[in-house]
Amino acid sequence: MTVRVLGSAAGGGFPQWNCNCRQCAAVRAGSPHHRARTQSSIAVGGPQDWLLVNASPDILTQLQRSPALQPARALRDSGIAAVLLCDGQIDHSTGLFMLRERGRPLPLWSTRPAHEDLSQGNPILRVLGHYCGVDWHELPLDGTAVRLPAALEAPQLAPLRITALPLDSKPAPYSPHREAPVEGDNVGLVLENTATGGRVFYAPGLGAISPAVWAAMNSVDAVLVDGTFWTDDEMITLGFSRKTARDIGHLPQSGAGGMLEVLGRLPVRTRKLLIHINNTNPILDEASPERRAVEAAGVEVSFDGLELLF
Ligand code: MLT
Ligand code: MN
Ligand code: ZN
Repeated sequence: MTVRVLGSAAGGGFPQWNCNCRQCAAVRAGSPHHRARTQSSIAVGGPQDWLLVNASPDILTQLQRSPALQPARALRDSGIAAVLLCDGQIDHSTGLFMLRERGRPLPLWSTRPAHEDLSQGNPILRVLGHYCGVDWHELPLDGTAVRLPAALEAPQLAPLRITALPLDSKPAPYSPHREAPVEGDNVGLVLENTATGGRVFYAPGLGAISPAVWAAMNSVDAVLVDGTFWTDDEMITLGFSRKTARDIGHLPQSGAGGMLEVLGRLPVRTRKLLIHINNTNPILDEASPERRAVEAAGVEVSFDGLELLF
């Protein structure tokens, strides 16, 4: 099975539409050290049947760049057999609107709190009810693994087993419990190919490393984790926000207790990749000292189109 990175940037993408910072400007100017990135999503499975994990506002572009997700087995057809959401944030959910032409309800897995956010604060799922509709399945939070049902007619996804882990992070600003997060606002996923035993941990928004998350990270061949910010005060220093990375549910990479320190404690054989990288993060400049520090730590910066076999 394959994990294909469809979008490696955080909300806003890279470059961000209204941003003229040094980095966004460098992408527009065609800098050889900067690579454009679309917003956060991966596809899992293949070669023809795929689970879309998070539905990015950039999904149409991502699909155009991913021919494997368009196997064209019928006049109207897509390789996307189902969608699973890690949270109800805009960058992970608004792509659902672009899937509205589906002939049948879209099979969708999310936690109950994410389903509530997308039915109330940002009622995407209610709006979709006027188009294809969704066939919602609750993602359990008690460690019970999910297998995709045979009714999906996506046999290549049969070996896939998904376990969701509640994360310490933040729900979207429009969530009724933005400032009082509840279990299931955000989840990380252990993706397992039961045919090979290969396991991947995916958590694009990770605010803190709980014992359960640490155990999951130690149980896999590869981790694909929150690469949003380099420093906790990045958005404050640049004058873009009054909130720290941790305030909005993202563990920064640098500093004491940061993501690089955490990844450094994982076994050497574990492949370590950052994903959901914000346009302010200096690691997006491939010639920067911060990028060199990441690479020296044995950590990869994922990019749109990267594929990982498991
Ligand atoms: C986040 O990951 O913190 C959010 O997606 C940010 C956003 O898209 O506004
Ligand atoms: Mn995000
Ligand atoms: Zn920028």
